[in-house]
Amino acid sequence: MKKIVVSGGSSGIGKALVETFVRQGFEVFTFARSREHLDQLSRKFASSGLLHTYVFDLKTGDFSLLAHKIKETIGGIDRMINNAGMLVNKPFLELTEAEVEDTFRVNVLAVFPLVQHLFPLFSPGAHIVNITSMGGVQGSVKFEGLSAYSAAKGALAVLTESMAAEFSGQHVSVNALALGAVQTEMLSAAFPGYKAPVAPDEIAAFVADFTLNGHRYFNGKILPVSLSTP
Ligand SMILES: NC(=O)c1ccc[n+]([C@@H]2O[C@H](COP(=O)([O-])OP(=O)(O)OC[C@H]3O[C@@H](n4cnc5c(N)ncnc54)[C@H](OP(=O)(O)O)[C@@H]3O)[C@@H](O)[C@H]2O)c1
Repeated sequence: MKKIVVSGGSSGIGKALVETFVRQGFEVFTFARSREHLDQLSRKFASSGLLHTYVFDLKTGDFSLLAHKIKETIGGIDRMINNAGMLVNKPFLELTEAEVEDTFRVNVLAVFPLVQHLFPLFSPGAHIVNITSMGGVQGSVKFEGLSAYSAAKGALAVLTESMAAEFSGQHVSVNALALGAVQTEMLSAAFPGYKAPVAPDEIAAFVADFTLNGHRYFNGKILPVSLSTP
């Protein structure tokens, strides 16, 4: 049975991914900051015995403790989705240093210690999927207010290519999915009133399938997955 780690499973796309994987019979470990949301999810799937949740903040958490927890809970990792993210919608000239730093910390910098600490747990043939955004794709349309977010996601895209090169001799594949707009809590908070063309469970079905099988066809690739953004 595949063992899957999903960061940011407490809401939006991450939550839909966790639900999709557990319904398919996979063992899932997910973490986020919101204990209340994680507990709700745990209760929903308690009888399956397949879901493990953990309260962890990518900005302040102890990554060796997280790795230890994952090791003692699920033993190893076959698939990992770096899904947790944050978005500040603010004009470039008004962004504070803390907002820029937090945006980079959660969306890309935390991926370094996370993967470093979890790497010994990866099985041969493991697949890491980084969730980036169309805004982080070079040459795509850009939107006002998203400079920190888009730049952080762009960095995650290049990190994906670099990690794939580094891990190619170790039978671990790394790809990124650059998503267009999905109707989640993050999108509603950043763009009140905007209606995205895709729901979290719809995109989760695609991301889950790609995570399970995409490394057979792709490595070190950033794939645009968007109905909305040129
Ligand atoms: N929705 C879109 O239109 C869209 C488009 C392109 C890309 N994406 C990307 O898709 C991913 C999921 O986004 P979403 O739309 O589903 O947003 P969301 O509903 O806000 O979910 C974000 C998840 O990340 C977790 N998270 C945020 N900060 C964290 C921290 N410091 N430590 C640990 N976990 C943290 C949140 O949990 P807690 O708050 O409980 O910590 C939550 O589970 C993100 O990477 C986002 O950038 C979304």
